[in-house]
Amino acid sequence: MATSSVRQDITTQTSAPGKEIGFSVNQGANWSNYLVYRPLYPQSFFERIYNYHSQKPFASWSVAHDIGAGCGVVSATLASQFHSVIVSDPNDGYTTVARKALIEESGIPESRLRFLQEGAERSSVESGTVDLLTVCECIHWTDPVTAIQEFNRELRPGGTVVITHYTVPRIIGNEKAQNAWERIWDLYSENCKDDDLLAHAFRILNTGFEHLEFPPDQWDLVKRQYINAHGSLLPFQMNPIVAEDHVHDGEQKVFDENDEDWIDVKGFEWFKGYQETWVPTLPESKSKELWDELELALDGEKAKIETPVVMVFATKRN
Ligand SMILES: C[S@@+](CC[C@H](N)C(=O)[O-])C[C@H]1O[C@@H](n2cnc3c(N)ncnc32)[C@H](O)[C@@H]1O
Repeated sequence: MATSSVRQDITTQTSAPGKEIGFSVNQGANWSNYLVYRPLYPQSFFERIYNYHSQKPFASWSVAHDIGAGCGVVSATLASQFHSVIVSDPNDGYTTVARKALIEESGIPESRLRFLQEGAERSSVESGTVDLLTVCECIHWTDPVTAIQEFNRELRPGGTVVITHYTVPRIIGNEKAQNAWERIWDLYSENCKDDDLLAHAFRILNTGFEHLEFPPDQWDLVKRQYINAHGSLLPFQMNPIVAEDHVHDGEQKVFDENDEDWIDVKGFEWFKGYQETWVPTLPESKSKELWDELELALDGEKAKIETPVVMVFATKRN
C-alpha cells in the first residue's frame, strides 16, 4: 500500500475498457457480506453533503440521483431529505436488490423512488432535472470523462454532484498488525494489475480522485475534501499505476482529520470479511501466511481502525 516511496507510473488510459461492468456478481460482489462488513455511511458523511448543497442560495431538495447505487445504502438516507430519489445501477439485478431494501425493508413509499438499470455514462434521466447526484464507491468503474459530462447534463443549474470513496482503513496502535494488513492489500492490488478493468479502477483511485476533471466552463465551487488522510493523498494509493491529475486553479482543497465517525474498533474476523468485499476475492492459497501473521499480531484483541475518505463536490454552472 501507499508509502512515501511509492513509485508513480503515470498513465492516461482511463476510459473504462470493454463491456464488462465493474463490481459484478461474477467478480465476487456479495451484497449480504457488503452490508455486514463495509462501513455504514455515518452522519458526518451526509452532513458534509447537505452543508455543501445548502450553501447555495437557490438550493432545491426535490430530486436526488444515487448513481452506482448497488443495494441502495446511500439512496435510503437521501430519501429522508429529498422528495424523490432515482436509484440507478448498471449490473443485472442490483436495482431489484435495492428496491427490496428501500421499499420492503425501509418502508420508503414506491412513489418517491425511481429505479433504473443503467450506467453513469448514459442515463435516461431528463436533462436539467436533478438537484443532487451522489456517486459513491463507483466512479472508478466508469469512464469518468463521459460520466462527469452526463452528470452536468442531468443536473439543474446550481445542482450538486458529490463523488466519494472510502479506502482501506489503517490499524492504529498495533504496528505489527498494520504491517501484515498493508501487505495483504499489497498482494490484493498486485493481483489485480493484469486485469484491464481493475487496473483502470486503480489508476483513478490511486490519485485520490485528482484525476477527476471538472471543466471550469461547466462547473463551479469545486471542493476536494479529504477525511482522516493525515494531510496526504498517499492513503488512497494502492499500487503504482496512477492516472494524470486534472485539478484546476481555484479549486478548494480541505483536509479534515480525526473524524470519529470514520474511526472504529474491529477484530480479526472483521478484517477478513471486509477484505473479501473488495472484488475480486484474494485467493486463500496466496494470502494465508499474511492472514496468520495478522491474527497473531492481533492476539485475540480488537484493534482501532481509521478510514481515509475522499469527497469531491462540484456545482453545475448556471
Ligand atoms: C462498491 S459498489 C457501491 C455501492 C454504493 N454506491 C455504496 O456506496 O455502497 C459499486 C457500484 O458501482 C456500480 N457500477 C459499476 N459500473 C458502473 C458504471 N459504469 N456506472 C455506474 N455504476 C457502476 C456497480 O454495479 C456497483 O453497484
